[in-house]
Amino acid sequence: MHDKIIILDFGSQVTQLIARRVREANVYCEILPCSVPLATLVDPNIKGIILSGGPASVYAPGAPTIDPRVYAGGVPVLGICYGMQITAHVGGGKVAPADHREFGRTEITVDTANPLFKGLAAKQTVWMSHGDRIESIPGSTVIANSSNCPLAAVTVPKLAFWGVQFHPEVAHTANGVTMIRNFLREICGCTGDWRMGSFIDEEIARIRTQVGDQRVILGLSGGVDSSVAAVLLHKAIGPNLTCIFVNNGVLRKDEAAGVRKLFADSIGINLDYVDATDRFLAKLAGLTDPEKKRKAIGYEFIAVFKEEAERLKKNGGGHVKFLAQGTLYPDVIESTSVHGGPTSVIKSHHNVGGLPADLGLGLVEPFRFLFKDEVRAIGKELGLPDSVVWRQPFPGPGLAVRIIGEVTRERVRVLQDADAIVRAEIATAGLEREIWQAFAVLLPVKSVGVMGDERTYEDTCALRAVTSSDGMTADWAKLPYELLGTISNRIINEVRGINRVVYDITSKPPGTIEWE
Ligand code: XMP
Repeated sequence: MHDKIIILDFGSQVTQLIARRVREANVYCEILPCSVPLATLVDPNIKGIILSGGPASVYAPGAPTIDPRVYAGGVPVLGICYGMQITAHVGGGKVAPADHREFGRTEITVDTANPLFKGLAAKQTVWMSHGDRIESIPGSTVIANSSNCPLAAVTVPKLAFWGVQFHPEVAHTANGVTMIRNFLREICGCTGDWRMGSFIDEEIARIRTQVGDQRVILGLSGGVDSSVAAVLLHKAIGPNLTCIFVNNGVLRKDEAAGVRKLFADSIGINLDYVDATDRFLAKLAGLTDPEKKRKAIGYEFIAVFKEEAERLKKNGGGHVKFLAQGTLYPDVIESTSVHGGPTSVIKSHHNVGGLPADLGLGLVEPFRFLFKDEVRAIGKELGLPDSVVWRQPFPGPGLAVRIIGEVTRERVRVLQDADAIVRAEIATAGLEREIWQAFAVLLPVKSVGVMGDERTYEDTCALRAVTSSDGMTADWAKLPYELLGTISNRIINEVRGINRVVYDITSKPPGTIEWE
């Protein structure tokens, strides 16, 4: 086993960044709620503990706290911001509201002889964000200070504790990465030999231990997370994995065939393909309100998936005991309380919407501590093609939210054809990775045109292409005019039913990426 760092989460917005920095230093880490039972922390592989920041005041009623025995194990502990304040608080020190909230870039002077600051200059720019200040910590030695913050960083040798009042995990702390690396290497003695490849091997071993010879089902959407999860599970348990792929009738052109070809034919995964097109289109008939369309698809998906899972359970002779999901760390953290306990459930809309409890299946979530780009790296390592690893996000309700107005079989066909042209031309132009998403939207707006000698009266297609780093904000993409021209010509010439193409130049905010 590799060295392991535990990050105890006190609710900071940037706890996940700490995890990222640790893994970037090639050390494996896990994030646990700060209230985790002490026994969980008794593990010879744990080489260090990091206490995250948090929004509370340590002296506020109900503020998250820490079991002082955490410091008694001899494992080095690094407290960041709240993590340092709570250490002062439980150790008999004094924390009080500061006169001025300290926020933003700050110059500090560090003790370069301390291993935490090894290799760094005495003057450092760091990012502060706290309203309370530490006035004393018993047994501490100051190792960094600023004019406003006399205890910017300390050590408490008796507790093997290092504390910083700033955030080394954020990019604004210029040498934060070095400080975290120093904590891991110089103080905890981690070897830094962890790689994504090691993650794959360890996770396969963990999955095998968790599920034994029971069977696992996985909802495969064709997206990055569920695809990589499917391949990892397949590697771990082979034929004991069955993937359920539901064709909801609003997938992109050739999507269902592509998923079957790759996962069933090439990789050899048990794939249960459910063509529920008719069911979904029947539910969508007559609906034009975006929310109603989304809900209809969500409910029907759960219904189909449940039926299929029940059928597999029955046929599996009671051996189907687990549901695997490609849940990512950001999904987990949004639904986990810093106090731990029963709230650590997956968001109800995630993946297969609240199915686990209903189905009475255990959960297998190999990526619960990972970020999207890390999952992409695993997919690459597992040999998945770029077309899957770099697939653009695609909404669960599929083309239904890109067909404005009623969704009919014919309109799905029209949009699938237009969308396929957009994707092909973006790929030919080599812009797939630069563009976050590029797609066509079918509008219920007819206009007059002329083709050959004939007058046409057909629908309008809007092109949507955006750049973004996370989908939360986005800019409309400045696609070259020639490319826009090619896409427009091809759609009008090749797609029956569209005679006009327009380009959407709205950024997010105020727009959204999808039209519905
Ligand atoms: P909006 O339209 O809100 O979309 O700017 C932001 C990102 O989320 C995707 N999206 C969805 N993904 N289920 C999903 O899995 C959905 O219901 C859904 N709606 C939007 C969208 O494609 C974009 O990447």
